[in-house]
Amino acid sequence: MSAPMYHQFASQYAEAVQDNIYNALLERPSMQAMLPALQGKRVLDLACGSGIYSEYFLAQGAQVTAVDLSEPFVAMVKARFADQLQAYAADMGQGLPQEADNSFDVVVCPLAIHYLEDLQPLFNDIRRILKPGGQFFFSTHHPLVDFEVSPSGNYFQRELIVEEWDTIGQPVEVQFYRRSLTELFAAIAQAGMVVANLSEGKPAEAMKERDPECYQRLSTHPNFLFVECVVG
Ligand SMILES: C[S@@+](CC[C@H](N)C(=O)[O-])C[C@H]1O[C@@H](n2cnc3c(N)ncnc32)[C@H](O)[C@@H]1O
Repeated sequence: MSAPMYHQFASQYAEAVQDNIYNALLERPSMQAMLPALQGKRVLDLACGSGIYSEYFLAQGAQVTAVDLSEPFVAMVKARFADQLQAYAADMGQGLPQEADNSFDVVVCPLAIHYLEDLQPLFNDIRRILKPGGQFFFSTHHPLVDFEVSPSGNYFQRELIVEEWDTIGQPVEVQFYRRSLTELFAAIAQAGMVVANLSEGKPAEAMKERDPECYQRLSTHPNFLFVECVVG
């Protein structure tokens, strides 16, 4: 079952991330700055949400498959992009059994791996479905930020964090996993991939005018981590 934020409040979430600070002015510009040219590439939009990345990939000339756990999001993506892409609902925590070996040039998974307790089935399958020379990009919460709310105070212990976020203008409970960089990077290596690039994000200049205080904080404190992996 998908989290309430992405199921019960899917439309409000879709509306909020269109133009907000954290997604529109920090996460997406930072991720897009890392991505290669996508013209003609086969791209998997993993945990596609409302399809905001799929829209970008299509505009770049990519051939897109979009996957998400949330049925309302998948329905939204199908309604928005009709026959321009393939979309289906699946739990990526179980891997990607519907996808063939060596079939994608690029896999992009923005802000979603922290919902999985065990990364290995997914990372193993991403490695399997990537073509030789393929690239896997993901973004996630920066471990420094999540450690601030660690219930145990043990950085090296993976733990479930329960918080209330007001992304949609009202508090909604969200649960996710916090893990060490050691565990994250071990899962990448275990899958047979290596880290080719890493970024800690950069707020878009537009944030300076919209919310100078937030711009100042996000320019001096990390919030997300962006990683590019390639087949090792
Ligand atoms: C923060 S949203 C990000 C959505 C989109 N990637 C974006 O950046 O706009 C997290 C997404 O992960 C999806 N998700 C959470 N757990 C998942 C799972 N086990 N399998 C597939 N998708 C999942 C949610 O339904 C939601 O769409």
